[in-house]
Amino acid sequence: IKQFTIAIDGPAAAGKGTLSRKIAETYGFHHLDTGLTYRATAKALLDAGLTLDDEAVAEKIAREVELAGLDRDILSKHEVGEAASKIAIMPSVRRALVEAQRRFSEKTPGTVLDGRDIGTVVCPAAPVKLYVTASPEVRAKRRYDEIKGKGGIADFDAIFDDVKRRDERDMGRADSPLKPAEDAHLLDTSEMSIEAAFQAAKSIIDAAL
Ligand code: C5P
Repeated sequence: IKQFTIAIDGPAAAGKGTLSRKIAETYGFHHLDTGLTYRATAKALLDAGLTLDDEAVAEKIAREVELAGLDRDILSKHEVGEAASKIAIMPSVRRALVEAQRRFSEKTPGTVLDGRDIGTVVCPAAPVKLYVTASPEVRAKRRYDEIKGKGGIADFDAIFDDVKRRDERDMGRADSPLKPAEDAHLLDTSEMSIEAAFQAAKSIIDAAL
C-alpha cells in the first residue's frame, strides 16, 4: 500500500478527537482535526472584528488558514466553536478548507482526518471510515466532566442544550451535513471506554491495511 487514509466523523464531543490522535500515534500517521480549520477561520474573523455574515470575506480568511499552525488550546473557546459552526454553513468557506484538507490527506505513509464530512465529502475514497457517536446526554456529561476536571464552572443543562443546538446546525445544513457515509463503520461510544472504542477501531483498520 502506497498511502492510507482513515476518515473519522461524528458529532461534537463524541470522543473522535482522542480516538483520532490515538490511532494516528499507533500507526505513525499524520493527523488533522478539521474542526480546527473552521475554528481558525472563525477566530481570525472575530479577532479582526469582522462580521460572520459575509461569505466572501470569510472565504478569503479561510484561504489564508495555515494547517501547520493550528493550536487546539487557542481555538478551544466555546465562542470560537459557535462561530465556527456558523461559518461552516457557507459553501465557499467549505470549498476553501476542503481543498486544504484534501491536500493534507495525501501525505505519506498515511493520514487520519476527523470532522463532520470526511467520509462523505473530503475523502470519499478512504479505505476506512468510522462514524463515532454517543447519545447527546453522554456527550454533554463528558463535556461537563472535562470542564469540572479542569476546575471550571459548568452548567449541565446549558451544555446539554448547546450539544443539541450544535447537532441541529451540523446535521441540518444544506452543504455537507453531518451524516455517516454509506460504507462507514458505526461506533457508538455511549457505553464504551476510550480504550474499548480504540480496540474496536483498531480491528477495523487492521483488517483493511
Ligand atoms: O469539531 P469542532 O467542534 O472543533 O468543529 C467546530 C465546528 O466546525 C463544527 O460544529 C462544525 O460546524 C464545523 N465543522 C465542519 N466540518 C468539519 C469539521 C468541523 O463543518 N469537517
